[in-house]
Amino acid sequence: MKILVVGSGGREHTIVWKLKQSPLADKIYCAPGNAGISELAECVPIGAMEFDKLISFAKENAIDYTVIGMDDPLAGGIVDAFEKEGLKVFGPRQNAAILESSKAFSKDLMKKYNIPTASYEVFDDYEAAKEYLQKQSMPIVLKADGLALGKGVLICKTLEEAEQALKEMMKEHKFGSAGNKIVIEEFLEGPEVSILSFCDGKTIIPMVSAQDHKRAFDNDKGLNTGGMGTFSPSKFYTEEMAKKCMETIFQPTVDAMIKENRKFVGIIYFGLMYTKNGMKVIEYNARFGDPETQVILPRLKTDLLEIMLACTNGTLDEINIEWYDNAAVCVILASGGYPVSYEKGYTITGLEEIAKKENTIVFHSGTAKKDGKFITSGGRVLGITGIGNTIEEAIQTAYEGVKIVDFDKKHFRTDIGKKEY
Ligand code: AMP
Ligand code: GLY
Repeated sequence: MKILVVGSGGREHTIVWKLKQSPLADKIYCAPGNAGISELAECVPIGAMEFDKLISFAKENAIDYTVIGMDDPLAGGIVDAFEKEGLKVFGPRQNAAILESSKAFSKDLMKKYNIPTASYEVFDDYEAAKEYLQKQSMPIVLKADGLALGKGVLICKTLEEAEQALKEMMKEHKFGSAGNKIVIEEFLEGPEVSILSFCDGKTIIPMVSAQDHKRAFDNDKGLNTGGMGTFSPSKFYTEEMAKKCMETIFQPTVDAMIKENRKFVGIIYFGLMYTKNGMKVIEYNARFGDPETQVILPRLKTDLLEIMLACTNGTLDEINIEWYDNAAVCVILASGGYPVSYEKGYTITGLEEIAKKENTIVFHSGTAKKDGKFITSGGRVLGITGIGNTIEEAIQTAYEGVKIVDFDKKHFRTDIGKKEY
């Protein structure tokens, strides 16, 4: 088969790396891809939002199957656009991708179908939201309704902070139109776990658990980022919790989407929090997580392409998905200053040496090639995944890799995988 993967980050590098192992995959293209991906697939310079160009490319090159990695094109209806042209594609249609692209939708869905989540109200009127805030206890959480590059969630400790945040979102349009509608929700506490799952519309199969480290610095200090590192499995997510989540969260979500005439085919990512009142959904994403994918897919034994095709064909109940009984840790190497401002264009060294190391995989996020050399081209540059029998072994392997790869202003956390819970 000829495959096209749409996206350009570490997640897409990992998806391409795993698809490449499939005996069914003869040739893989990636649009637009990055320098690391270009070692495995043919990168084509078409942006993820250029649907017409992507469709023309798929037709001209007889692409058999397109895999969408990113959230924006899914929310924009790329799957509908491909299907309309008779092209086979992996991912949810626009009316199902709304599970991620509208927090108001997902909160209302959870309320309607009794899926456990923080209590909340939705507002599109500033004055009404302000009045509501004044009656709430603090801390409180404000969320922009739409996609906001993972930055549209503000946790406010005082009423003053909350009023300021509300003003920025609804009056000053800090998150653009994503903040025209907002969700104000109860602040919850507890350890968080990411459970990604394959879904064919009716059957849902969860993947192995993962946890991420979102803050820029050690001990969860500094700003929220797209993710500074991940590990799998999670330390506190037990078989028993998994069973309970299947009954109260996973299957009910899929069934609710059917009832709403929004059949979900693709990846549902459940962001969960284990509160004193049990597991609750913090957020849904309609795609693989980044950098969760970098620790999950290396643990997958079964052919990813076969699983994706089963999702698209509605036959997920017919396949058995197997995982390695091991652990993985991914440490992100970022450009100093990320997530605020950072410099790009520095030469990356050590990539040839690390490629010889066992149980270590390098996934590129923001790299480019200049004069045959890899250079930094983004905030998150590389993810170094270490595999081991235990998390401790995986941590050691990942950090040995971290020492080998270098570039100016390299920044990483030294405590990935070391969360107590
Ligand atoms: P989200 O973009 O929805 O994943 O939110 C980003 C992060 O904000 C989550 O991973 C949580 O750590 C935090 N968060 C979101 N909602 C809540 C909440 N209701 N209570 C406490 N923390 C939250
Ligand atoms: N790592 C969080 C996300 O992909 O949304």
